[in-house]
Amino acid sequence: MNHALAIIFTTLSLLKMAVAEEEFCSAPLIVDSGSNSKHLYWKVTNPTLSPSHLQENSLSGLPPYDAERFIFVVQGAVTLTNVSGISHKLTVDSYAYLPPNVEHSLKCDGSATLVVFERRHASLENQPTEQIVGSTDQQPLLETPGEVFQLRKLIPTSIPYDFNIHIMDFQPGEYLNVKEVHYNQHGLLLLEGQGIYRLGDSWYPVQAGDAIWMAPFVPQWYAALGKSRSRYLLYKDVNRNPL
Ligand SMILES: *[C@@H]1O[C@H](CO)[C@@H](O)[C@H](O)[C@H]1NC(C)=O
Repeated sequence: MNHALAIIFTTLSLLKMAVAEEEFCSAPLIVDSGSNSKHLYWKVTNPTLSPSHLQENSLSGLPPYDAERFIFVVQGAVTLTNVSGISHKLTVDSYAYLPPNVEHSLKCDGSATLVVFERRHASLENQPTEQIVGSTDQQPLLETPGEVFQLRKLIPTSIPYDFNIHIMDFQPGEYLNVKEVHYNQHGLLLLEGQGIYRLGDSWYPVQAGDAIWMAPFVPQWYAALGKSRSRYLLYKDVNRNPL
């Protein structure tokens, strides 16, 4: 039952991110003027989504009790300050993991667009998680036996962590060799490029800015199309018995 709750929570978080409700601060919609907006993931915010951006000097609240939080910066910058008073400036392509029930704040330096995942942490006795701050480009490329895509993981694979975030890159024409079916659910945000996603017997053309939720056991497959690299961010629940 607990687990079902976690699943719903994760999904909602992703959807919130995708449709850009006012998750973080109560910020009105700002239409990007388009000028100097060519940051790394600019296509995420242009034009398929019209997200709400954090306003200058806006400040986050805390997630619900027992919820862990992961944030990834798609546009702009935020400053994370933890309970020890130590701050990190998070810019595009950087991220942070915050354990449950740990005081912290996120403050916008200018406007910012964030991907936020929150879920009830399936904690294990004497196996606490720790704050993580990192950047995608500093994560090592991992082996992907039988596959061609490039894989980075943003969270340690050790047992205390009950989910991970994968960054997956495909060159145009590359595709998943394995049509996957597994118990893990996924939340996906396409950060760059375009392609086609198969879910069950349906085929969806997708492009940067599109979000997908994949239920457990849904057959899934991706092929990258277009002329530029596809990159997506993928949530995956791990390290816990799904039953
Ligand atoms: C606060 O951040 C610093 C620097 O990242 C880290 O070393 C420290 O463990 C954090 N404090 C807590 C309570 O997580």
